[in-house]
Amino acid sequence: MSDFNNGREQWGSRLGFILAAMGSAVGLGNIWRFAYVTGESGGAAFLLIYILCILAIGIPILMAEFTIGRRAQSDVVGSFQEITPGKPWVVAGFLGVASAFIILSFYGVIAGWSLHYFVQYLSGGPAIGAEGGFADYFVAFHTGTFEPLLWQFIFMGMTVGIVYVGVKKGIEKANKILMPLLAILVILLAGYSLTLGGAQEALDFLFTPDWSQLANPEVYLAALGQAFFSLSLGMGALITYGSYLSKKDKLPGAAVSVAGLDTLFAILAGLMIFPAVFAFGIEPDSGPGLVFITLPGIFDSLGAGVVFGLLFFFLLSAAAVSSGVSLLEVAVAYFMRRFSWSRQKAALIIGFIIFLIGIPSSLGMGALSGVTFFGRDILDTMDFIASNVFLPLGGLLIALFVGWGWKKADALEASDFGDTALGNGWVIILRYFAPVAIFIIFLSSIGVF
Ligand code: PHE
Repeated sequence: MSDFNNGREQWGSRLGFILAAMGSAVGLGNIWRFAYVTGESGGAAFLLIYILCILAIGIPILMAEFTIGRRAQSDVVGSFQEITPGKPWVVAGFLGVASAFIILSFYGVIAGWSLHYFVQYLSGGPAIGAEGGFADYFVAFHTGTFEPLLWQFIFMGMTVGIVYVGVKKGIEKANKILMPLLAILVILLAGYSLTLGGAQEALDFLFTPDWSQLANPEVYLAALGQAFFSLSLGMGALITYGSYLSKKDKLPGAAVSVAGLDTLFAILAGLMIFPAVFAFGIEPDSGPGLVFITLPGIFDSLGAGVVFGLLFFFLLSAAAVSSGVSLLEVAVAYFMRRFSWSRQKAALIIGFIIFLIGIPSSLGMGALSGVTFFGRDILDTMDFIASNVFLPLGGLLIALFVGWGWKKADALEASDFGDTALGNGWVIILRYFAPVAIFIIFLSSIGVF
């Protein structure tokens, strides 16, 4: 196959690919989801398991996704059909497309909140009443009916717009500038937040494990789900991105850089949020609103807070768009190939359907707040099914596919590892360790052990 196969698009450069993969990985997952899940799961013990999940399961599966995509040069469903035609592995592909629909549907809701805050800061920051604080503002806003839907719609429109234009033109460029800016801002804000008086408590919370937490099976599932969500893993976003790579590029270095940067972002976000959480006396387990309540407090206490608030929510929204794009691209690439739709048609139709699917998640905060499943609201339910069930299950199948479905020599060659110790270690992890670990975490979370 030539580098420009069948007229499929390709990344402009290896750096462009790495940045796009980082753009997919770094998003609301690192800041919004990481902060609230860490807060709810008790802090340091969770963080430790999360990092172990990234190192021992996440990075090997990330490598597996890049390898599958680049070898097959197809979308998530087509990739499995290309490498093992007629075999059932393709269910992993359909699971991936389903995950893309579910995740983007609620991702758009939260990203819409971020856009709303950005626009609030354009005009001076969220208005807070005489006795109410930022929590009251957040509650009033996100339980509303039309406003959150409007912002969700605008976010989906931006995401569709980028996918509409195409992978290379749309996705590569913006990431080169915005991601480094977001990193700088998070570092500055973390530095400031640590001076607010909650630093010691925050550092204890994040880095001094309460070992009794290790006996709680839910913490493992939460950490595994967070690792998959944050790395964009288990649903083919990185298979799809890998498929736009030419054969010349080297994969293992890219996988480690993406995972390393993503984890660093999450830890920095923790250092930004938690000192303020303790300084302001907010409960760390206050749930999905955590960053939307804490951050405006930080900005308010800063001299030039409005400028920081504006920049922060702009960059967070941009990071959410680049992740949203990778979610939408999974479904769009599939529909383009399968039904011979144009990119434009696929982006518009699928984007609109995903917006519709997201509406109940948004309304579940207010008008539909009575609708719960096992104590979870609608958004939380969607998130749980996708992040804690579908993604790890998809990852399990991807690991088994590379470990067992593919001839070992082929997999090693396709991955750029070759027949090296590292390569063999990678295959062993995919064959035995990762599937067994994911399986045990599943079983223990449903109470088998
Ligand atoms: N990793 C993204 C984030 O952290 C979310 C995402 C999940 C993107 C799955 C693509 C696939 O925000």
